[in-house]
Amino acid sequence: MSRRRRTGDHFARRAKKEHYPARSIYKLEEIDRRVGLFKPGHIVLDLGAAPGSWTLFAAEKVGRKGRVVAVDRAPLTISLPDNAVAIEADALTCDPDVLMAETSGNGFNAVISDMAPKTSGHRFVDQSRSFSLFCRALEIAAIALRHNGKFVGKIFQGEDFEVARDRVRALFSKARVIRPVSVRSESYEIYLVGLGRR
Ligand SMILES: C[S@@+](CC[C@H](N)C(=O)[O-])C[C@H]1O[C@@H](n2cnc3c(N)ncnc32)[C@H](O)[C@@H]1O
Repeated sequence: MSRRRRTGDHFARRAKKEHYPARSIYKLEEIDRRVGLFKPGHIVLDLGAAPGSWTLFAAEKVGRKGRVVAVDRAPLTISLPDNAVAIEADALTCDPDVLMAETSGNGFNAVISDMAPKTSGHRFVDQSRSFSLFCRALEIAAIALRHNGKFVGKIFQGEDFEVARDRVRALFSKARVIRPVSVRSESYEIYLVGLGRR
């Protein structure tokens, strides 16, 4: 068994022990540790939030004075803390103004997207769907982020990757590419991070 595979098992066990519904928590935790995403009082938009690990982590980080708006086309079945709200919606078609209303029109401090398509087994099809979800997350971020806000978006690495990175560079003063240690070795997912919404 490879070292990466043992590591993956470790993260799944740890998530269970720490009462998170998915091991993906440790991807966001690493990104936050490396770039400093959240501060107490922040308002965060979490796209593709189910089953809810990122929502729980972000809600802990922003604290009682902050707020997390969790969007997924699937229902979030976990019980959420008081500073988080779930909206069942398709991010590809939902109206960003409805999301903005959750911030009383002031906008979000961070937009984070872990959205992923149902995999078809055809790598190019999955990459292209992932690219569409990534671009939609960035489009929502362009509308809904405050000045200086932050962005995290998952994308399956493929031929569109450079286009995605250029779009992040155009919207933010700094762009980072992060592949967290907890990403499974066989996965070609990666995260593009934008810091400082222009
Ligand atoms: C990898 S899971 C997210 C895991 C989550 N970050 C967590 O920590 O629990 C990807 C999610 O993206 C959602 N998703 C995919 N396409 C979507 C869309 N068009 N609109 C909203 N959610 C979508 C899926 O329903 C799925 O729940």
